[in-house]
Amino acid sequence: MDLFEYQARDMFEKHGVPVLAGEVAETVEQAAAAAERVGARSGGVTVVKAQVKTGGRGKAGGVKVAKTADEARQHAEQILGMDIKGHTVNVVMIAQGAKIAEEYYFSLLLDRANRNYLAMCSKEGGMEIEQLAVERPEALARVAVDPQMGIDEAKGKEIVDAAGFDAETGAKIVPVLQKLWDVYREEDATLVEVNPLVKTEDGEIVALDGKVTLDDNADFRQPDHAGLVDAKAEDPLEAKAKELGLNYVKLDGNVGIIGNGAGLVMSTLDVVAYAGQDHTGGASKPANFLDIGGGASAEVMANGLDVILGDEQVKSVFVNVFGGITACDAVANGIVGALDKLGDAATKPLVVRLDGNNVEEGRRILADRNHPLVTIEPTMDGAARRAAELAAK
Ligand SMILES: Nc1ncnc2c1ncn2[C@@H]1O[C@H](COP(=O)(O)OP(=O)(O)OP(=O)(O)O)[C@@H](O)[C@H]1O
Ligand SMILES: [Mg+2]
Repeated sequence: MDLFEYQARDMFEKHGVPVLAGEVAETVEQAAAAAERVGARSGGVTVVKAQVKTGGRGKAGGVKVAKTADEARQHAEQILGMDIKGHTVNVVMIAQGAKIAEEYYFSLLLDRANRNYLAMCSKEGGMEIEQLAVERPEALARVAVDPQMGIDEAKGKEIVDAAGFDAETGAKIVPVLQKLWDVYREEDATLVEVNPLVKTEDGEIVALDGKVTLDDNADFRQPDHAGLVDAKAEDPLEAKAKELGLNYVKLDGNVGIIGNGAGLVMSTLDVVAYAGQDHTGGASKPANFLDIGGGASAEVMANGLDVILGDEQVKSVFVNVFGGITACDAVANGIVGALDKLGDAATKPLVVRLDGNNVEEGRRILADRNHPLVTIEPTMDGAARRAAELAAK
């Protein structure tokens, strides 16, 4: 999950990273009131900043300095509702204005290729960092960070030296990098980026912008992170699936897909996409990814069907199960149980392909139940074609 800048700011503050005062506002009135309060700390000067989860806000006109609360109001009027790279600005942050002497860059991220963490640091931060990385990569220091060791004083010094800071400035930056490491480690982040990290005219080091990505796999030990989810932006079906503990991704098509095992579900998406091309002229496509995992109990199957049938775009459902440790008869009972549990809520045709352990018994259970919505197909290709055709009807 990516955080908004204001959420990153609050997280930085919690871990002792130096930041400036900032308040969020959703209306022009709130923005003006916030500017009165926040500006009182900096001679009335504030910065109105669009809160969207994309880069290049400044260049798009989403970051504007205001000398008075009235000016902040005008900027907020302009920025609220603005579109930045397809993201609508619903919230602005009114930040205390900084007197910037120099702008630096720092980030800490997961280096998957090297199975390590990587720190990047530059004396030339600010809005042109992407260009710098391409045109003069040598100006962007890259230092490997051992996950066990993190950024201690020695590692911090190594980073600022590699970036070419003078001793005095470097010594001021090191403790900030150590705090940013605390954010990265203690919050289970996969990215912490500060651009710009600034030196003020008073010689203070301050994080003026923050981008943080949290590792959703660590949610189980980060109960506070649930409060950071942007409920407005979340797809309601994905939210429901998440609540039910299902591995679900919504896609654009009309053929709902349920399978057991991520690999099987991936190939089911491919087969349905091909069948849609070949037999419906591209009218039918996969509507989702849903892996119900190994033990496909009636309850899990019912939850999965419930989510998929809640998708208005879905016109048919393909249940593709390979019986392994959980045998086909158990899965078939799961499907029957799910349909009974859903009752009238089940309204769309289901094409079921079962194979593997105990397949005969599984097919027999489905045949005996003889549910009007269920078609049994012996092969994956046949089932994909059938589901695609039903969806295109
Ligand atoms: N509180 C502040 N006081 C003074 N100047 C600021 C402040 N916040 C930002 N700025 C200036 O505005 C520039 C852009 O701000 P910021 O880095 O937050 O947005 P951005 O880089 O355009 O957004 P993104 O990082 O999403 O691409 C900064 O480089 C800095 O010069
Ligand atoms: Mg920035």
